[in-house]
Amino acid sequence: MMLLELEQASYRYPNGGVGLEACSLAIRRGSRNALIGANGSGKTTLFQHCNGLLRPQSGVLRYAGTVLDYSRSGLRQLRSKVGLVFQNPDHQLFSASVQEDVSFGPFNLGLDEATVRRRVSAALDAVGMAGFAERAVHNLSFGQKKRVCIAGVLAMEPELLVLDEPMAGLDHAMKTEFLAVLDGLHAQGITLLLATHDIDLAYRWADYIHLIDSGVCTASLPAADLAYRDDALSALGLPLPTVVELQRRLTARGLLPKGLLPRTHSELLTLLDNTYDGKEAPCC
Ligand SMILES: Nc1ncnc2c1ncn2[C@@H]1O[C@H](COP(=O)(O)OP(=O)(O)OP(=O)(O)O)[C@@H](O)[C@H]1O
Ligand SMILES: [Mg+2]
Repeated sequence: MMLLELEQASYRYPNGGVGLEACSLAIRRGSRNALIGANGSGKTTLFQHCNGLLRPQSGVLRYAGTVLDYSRSGLRQLRSKVGLVFQNPDHQLFSASVQEDVSFGPFNLGLDEATVRRRVSAALDAVGMAGFAERAVHNLSFGQKKRVCIAGVLAMEPELLVLDEPMAGLDHAMKTEFLAVLDGLHAQGITLLLATHDIDLAYRWADYIHLIDSGVCTASLPAADLAYRDDALSALGLPLPTVVELQRRLTARGLLPKGLLPRTHSELLTLLDNTYDGKEAPCC
């Protein structure tokens, strides 16, 4: 069942620049999705359509089967279900303290104070920022600001969480932790859509990969299919995931049995270890 569908959406910026061009994208309820495309390909523009910040000049946005009419109530309802985390945390955070910032959305929904307090504390917990409620936003590190942005959106209890390059600027440890946070949200039933330039991450994490080029979604496919859909990637000048590249070379040279499709480096290493456990690799 599709949760969000953008159908043939076209959007031009006031200066005439093309944002989207007859772009279609469908997101299944409960799935993990990665959107991949070059700088300027339309990822941020597409995301701003997902919660109605931008309205397509033609085409429609459908949420849970209902076409968005862009009325005040339609937009309010959509935004209570779709949480958008901006690419740049400084564009999202505007309150003095972490607590205030994360509370803003739920207060705006008209929730009572006790409910807001409960939601804020659960959201800060979920992103590993429980001890930071009283901290000043402007003193946080970039990665911490990103987490607070996510907490602010989580406190709205969205069904669909849309994250614009959430990993950019995070160190390795924070990326790993962040993936665990996303997996926790997914386990709670939240549908996830994130933009990334990291094809390896998309391959190992996502259920579905969507490719965008010059404002057009050129392909949507199960992530596992990337292993043999180089055409879709190479059309955009994108490399194969490293693990697929390695698996292919190793299989072609007879170093790995045919038909094994590891999704992560550690899976590939385990396969190699299992294949050569106690044996010499064939020598060259
Ligand atoms: N406010 C704006 N006014 C005019 N043109 C814009 C505006 N914002 C984006 N664009 C243009 O729309 C196109 C898509 O931009 P967008 O920001 O959606 O790309 P992106 O895929 O998010 O890129 P990046 O990877 O750099 O974040 C680009 O050509 C960009 O120059
Ligand atoms: Mg962008």
